[in-house]
Amino acid sequence: MGKVIAVTSGKGGTGKSTLAVNCGMALSLLKNRVLLIDTDAGLRALDIMLGISDRVVYDLADILSGRCEPAKAIVKTPWGRLSLLPAPVVEDECDSAEALSELCKQLRQCFDFIFLDSPAGMGKWARAAAAAADQAILVVTPDPVCIRDADRMAGHVLSRHVDDIRLVINRVQPNILRKKLDGGLDVIIDAASVQLIGIVPEDRQISLAAYDGKPVVQTLHTRGGAAEAYCNIARRLCGEDVPLMDI
Ligand SMILES: Nc1ncnc2c1ncn2[C@@H]1O[C@H](COP(=O)(O)OP(=O)(O)OP(=O)(O)O)[C@@H](O)[C@H]1O
Ligand SMILES: [Mg+2]
Repeated sequence: MGKVIAVTSGKGGTGKSTLAVNCGMALSLLKNRVLLIDTDAGLRALDIMLGISDRVVYDLADILSGRCEPAKAIVKTPWGRLSLLPAPVVEDECDSAEALSELCKQLRQCFDFIFLDSPAGMGKWARAAAAAADQAILVVTPDPVCIRDADRMAGHVLSRHVDDIRLVINRVQPNILRKKLDGGLDVIIDAASVQLIGIVPEDRQISLAAYDGKPVVQTLHTRGGAAEAYCNIARRLCGEDVPLMDI
């Protein structure tokens, strides 16, 4: 039985989709069958990030509305064990977001990990994703708005839907942190009050990979940068005890 993980944030653009794609890739390299479900209705991105947008025919709304079987809508990526279920193009095309839990129950028989890449905030799709998940990963960046948001999201909003919440701090730049954030990353961890599962450095390779339609993780042996951080998070999700990266 696979594990369902919702990737969430309060503020937009913190790096949820990037994390879902790259941790999904790392888990597939670790020989897991991985499904990424894009629940960002209206703003789908994962098909572009994986370079397979021209192969998308059906989407999540088609399945939830009973218009097609899951197998027809799930697209295999060029990386063997990693598959994608794309989001609907139109935001309100589907009013049965709640049916997502039922779908995940069904799909967890066929996959070891299912990532639900959520829209920012706690709208209909983000709530449905959190409710369908065994675990939520809250992705924050080390800026003041996000720090306040981590407290609200983890402590009040997300916890209404899912018990097991982990924190990822993305786009960490040590020079800026040293100058601007007294107390460093501990301030963010304290604000969220949930267990940290990874720290990801700011990395130019992420934007370059987005242009290429490829995950930045291509092997499990990259040293340094965001790719190593995503591989470490993937290993922790598999239960390995991996020390935090020294950024
Ligand atoms: N560690 C990183 N280093 C550098 N750039 C990053 C990093 N993580 C994400 N980015 C960049 O930040 C931008 C937002 O990332 P992404 O789309 O993954 O965020 P998101 O949380 O899914 O956004 P949304 O809330 O709109 O769905 C992208 O341009 C991405 O390339
Ligand atoms: Mg996104």
